[in-house]
Order: sequence, then structure tokens, then C-alpha cells
Amino acid sequence: MSENGRGQWQTRAGFIAAAAGSAIGLGNIWRFPFITGRYGGGAFVLVYILLLIFIGYPVMNSELLLGRKTQKNPVGAYKALAPGSPWIIVGFMGVLAGFVILSYYSVVAGWSLSYIFKSGAYMAAGSDAANIFVSSISSTFGGIFWHTLFMLLCIGIVYGGVENGIERWSKILMPVLLVLLLVLIVRSVTLPGAGEGLSFYLKPDFSAFSAEGFLAALGQVFFTLSLGMGCMITYGSYLKKDEDLPLDAKYVVSFDTIIALLAGFVIFPAVFAFGLEPAAGPGLTFITLPAVFSQMGAAGHIFGTIFFILLTVAALTSAISLLEVVAAYFIDEIKWNRKKATIGMGIAIWILGIFPSLGYSTLSNVKLIKGFDILDSFDFFANNILLPLGGMLIAIFIGWFWGTDKALEEANRGASTKLGASYSFLIKYVIPIAVFVVFLNSVGILG
Ligand code: PFF
Repeated sequence: MSENGRGQWQTRAGFIAAAAGSAIGLGNIWRFPFITGRYGGGAFVLVYILLLIFIGYPVMNSELLLGRKTQKNPVGAYKALAPGSPWIIVGFMGVLAGFVILSYYSVVAGWSLSYIFKSGAYMAAGSDAANIFVSSISSTFGGIFWHTLFMLLCIGIVYGGVENGIERWSKILMPVLLVLLLVLIVRSVTLPGAGEGLSFYLKPDFSAFSAEGFLAALGQVFFTLSLGMGCMITYGSYLKKDEDLPLDAKYVVSFDTIIALLAGFVIFPAVFAFGLEPAAGPGLTFITLPAVFSQMGAAGHIFGTIFFILLTVAALTSAISLLEVVAAYFIDEIKWNRKKATIGMGIAIWILGIFPSLGYSTLSNVKLIKGFDILDSFDFFANNILLPLGGMLIAIFIGWFWGTDKALEEANRGASTKLGASYSFLIKYVIPIAVFVVFLNSVGILG
């Protein structure tokens, strides 16, 4: 605990593990490969990396420094720096985004959790693995059961607090994830015919790239780095004042990028080796991969099980950060204790999550936004509206209201390599404009 009674990361490695744990999740292992497949492979990867550097990294620094400066949750942070102004609404949007994202994130993570135990079923189904997926997501009881189990794990860890819950578990779980991923890469790239997948993934072919791919890459940058909703404000608020913030941000962005790129090395060689479709969409993980595992003989049971343990672990360390954002608001601002905040909000989010979990069974007729099912609508609302808007407003807040000079002063305290003019330029001009374009596209004005 720090002197103000709030939690505080005990070690630098602990903070980096927790922040990287938040960033690395379904976004890296499930979402990154399927959108890379959809938007043309290598060229998409190149653009994605450039956006990570020029947009993701500065926004990561911005959120962390706002958190460390104010020692507050997103709502408290804006309240402290711009008292009595409407900026507080941006903080509330973040808490709302955390609430909505976790409700369906837990449903997808629940599918992953259930797949740890389904190797028997998909191994037997072989190339009909799609049927297993459809029947598992359309089971009313199953959907709620796995969502409930996943939420319980998440509540349990956040309940433990910053040091004994989040930090301790992230330090254990993140290295496990890396090891599991490396094992799977070795299997995948040594499959006969893996080369074609590698060249799809690594050779940029700009003829397959589109403006829409650019926008998808930018959206992915926010989601994958947990930016735009104040998650990194919250995690930054538990940092010690003399932490080397720009360097930590560099580590987190690098680890997140490495894990996403490694996930691509697992998926594309295997997809091509077995003659499957790289643009299969969200099913790439839950349909294509089980089909791949089923063709590996007895070893497929092991590799399949390892893969879904990995995906669940990654999802868990992200889910706890989503719950922490919501809990921190209730702890700091409404003065609830941690127990009441995590259990109370965990249950509220669990209840909201029942709707997307029933979206493929009892509630399959319900379409909310643009004819999307419930889960897709929640995802659209949070990722295409709340996160980009939140990211753009953070940049505008720092660039045009609070001031990049103050931001630089906060970020550079204890920094080995200091942020400077390029940070200010990106925050003031490049990011607001770029994100505004994405946002317009997201709400369908351009797209
Ligand atoms: N970054 C997580 C992922 O890639 O799966 C998702 C996420 C976590 C988004 C936390 C936003 C957030 F605040």
C-alpha cells in the first residue's frame, strides 16, 4: 500500500507483467490473426506496427502519466486535473466501456475455457469442427455456465487487490503464456507446407490492402493495448512516482506486439499447411484451429488443450484489468471497500453478460446495432465507438487543455530516455486527426 492507502505495484517487473497482461489477451491471440487474415496478411501487419509506434506508444504514455500524476481512476483523474469541467464525462465513458467490454469478453473467454475440455469432441469431429463450435455457443446452459466460471476467476483475483491479486497472478501467468506459445510455434512452423503460411504472413502485398484495413489496424491498436478507456490510467495510478514511465510503456507495447506476432506464427503456417482459409473471420480460432489440431493425430489433444489454456490465461489477465477499472472507480469515488466493489460490480457485469451469452440460443432473434447479434453489438459499441472516442479525447485533453509541457514533466521524471517534441506533435495533431477519421468510419459516416 502507498501512504494514501491505495494499492501500489511492489516491483517494476510486477507492474510490467500486469500491464502487459492487460494488453495481451483475446485481442492478440484471437482477434489479431483473424483480422490479419481478413485484410491481406503482411501489408496489414506492417501498417499495424507503424500505428503501434506512432499512435499506440504515445497514448500508452499519456494514460500512464495521467494515472501516476493523479493517483486516481479515470473519473477521478479528469476531476483532479480539470475540476468542474465536462472532461469528467470522458472518465465515465471509460468506466462504462470497461463494464460493457468485460460483459462479453467473459463470454468469449468462457468459450475458450470450455474448449480446454473439448479436445475429445473436436478431435472426433475433424474438419466438422464448426459444428462443435456452433453447438457449444448455442447451448443456453453451457454459455452461462462457462461465462459464470470465468467471471468467478476474475472476481477472485481482483478481490485479492493490486499486490496480492493482480500483480502476483500476472507474474505467474504471463511467463506461462510465453512458454506455451513457443511450444505451439515450433509445432506449427515445422508442419509440412508451413512455408506458404509464413509468406502470406510476412510478405507485404499491398494489392490486398485497403483503406478499410488501415482503419481496422488502428482500431486493433487501441483494443490490443487496452487504450481509450482509462485502463492504463488506472494501472498507472498504482505506480511509484520515480518509475521510468516511457521505458515501461516501451516494454508493454513491445511485449504485446511480440505476442500478437507470435500468435500469427502459430496460426498462419498451420492454416496453410492444412489447406484452410486464412480469411475465415472470428471462427479462425474456434473452428479452424480445432480442425488443425484434429489432423495432428494423438498429439492434437495435447496441442489443442495447451492452446486453449493459453488463450484463457491471456484473457484472464486482461479481464482482471477491465474489472479493476470499474472497481477502482467505486473504491476511489463512491468510497466502497474493495470487497464490495469487486463482488458488487462483478455480479453486475456477470448479469449484463448473460445477454450476449444467450445471443446464440434463447435470444438469437435479438439484433441491436446494425443488425448485429448481442455480442457483436456490444463489441461494436465499445470498440468502435467508446474506445476510439476515449483515445482521441485523451490526446485532445493533454494536447490542447492540460498541456503537453505538464505531461512531459510528469512522464520524464525518472525517465532514462525522455519524451520530447515528437510526443507533443503526435498527441496534438496526428492522433486526434487519425482517430477522428477512424471514428467517422466506425459510426458508418464514411464506411
Ligand atoms: N487488450 C485486451 C486484449 O487485447 O484482449 C482487451 C482489453 C483489455 C481492452 C482491457 C481494453 C481494456 F481496458
